[in-house]
Amino acid sequence: MARTSFVAGNWKMNTNKATAVELAKAVAKGAPTRVDVGVAPPFVYLHAVGQALAGSKVLLGAQDVYFEKNGAFTGEISVEMLKDLGVRFCLTGHSERRHVIGESSALVARKAEAVYAGGLILIHCVGEKLEQRDANQTLQVVQAQLNELSRKMDDPARMVIAYEPVWAIGTGRNATDQQAQEVHAFIRQTLGTMWNKDYADRVRIQYGGSMKPENAKSLTSQTDVDGGLIGGAALKADAFLAIVNAAK
Ligand code: PGA
Repeated sequence: MARTSFVAGNWKMNTNKATAVELAKAVAKGAPTRVDVGVAPPFVYLHAVGQALAGSKVLLGAQDVYFEKNGAFTGEISVEMLKDLGVRFCLTGHSERRHVIGESSALVARKAEAVYAGGLILIHCVGEKLEQRDANQTLQVVQAQLNELSRKMDDPARMVIAYEPVWAIGTGRNATDQQAQEVHAFIRQTLGTMWNKDYADRVRIQYGGSMKPENAKSLTSQTDVDGGLIGGAALKADAFLAIVNAAK
């Protein structure tokens, strides 16, 4: 099954308006059409970045969302608001939201449901902490995070899983090719059980966690690795584009 790789930049709480626009323009200019490419700037720069990407194939993404449609939810942003700005994909379950901000699995599940129901591409992040890997609980943890997804999400083109071992995020210590492939294969097998094999074969599974130009080629050439979710290295256009170009 040939899947189009998808490389997305998660800018986290970085850039300012000018640098966000500059970065978006450079990515739009340099991105090949062979691979799906996306960037997820901070909420406040979505509009400006969306304009900078106009006319390019680079997808605009959001790092977070709230599951309600509208109402008295001070500080929150709905799927409809994101769509209004041209957002095409949204992350859920990123480890920083789970473990730094303290989002529960139940909240992550409701957000994923809202993103999917709203017609956006969902990038659902899963991954174990170091102590969980050391205790041999990696697959169990990933399985539980996949269970946050609803069986009603039946379009594999709008379902992306990002495997991001927490110990690899922002640490400079990436998973080995074998460690990534092992978990990616498990994720695909689990999706096959949750939906069916054809569905599982179509879902893109990104690797995230200290992916950089130097390790992108070997990580993304693994059978079940279909691109990446890039943090630190997505903040420099040349590094990000080198990763994009390394993807199969
Ligand atoms: P990193 O972050 O590439 O800086 O490790 C990845 C992520 O958190 O998505």
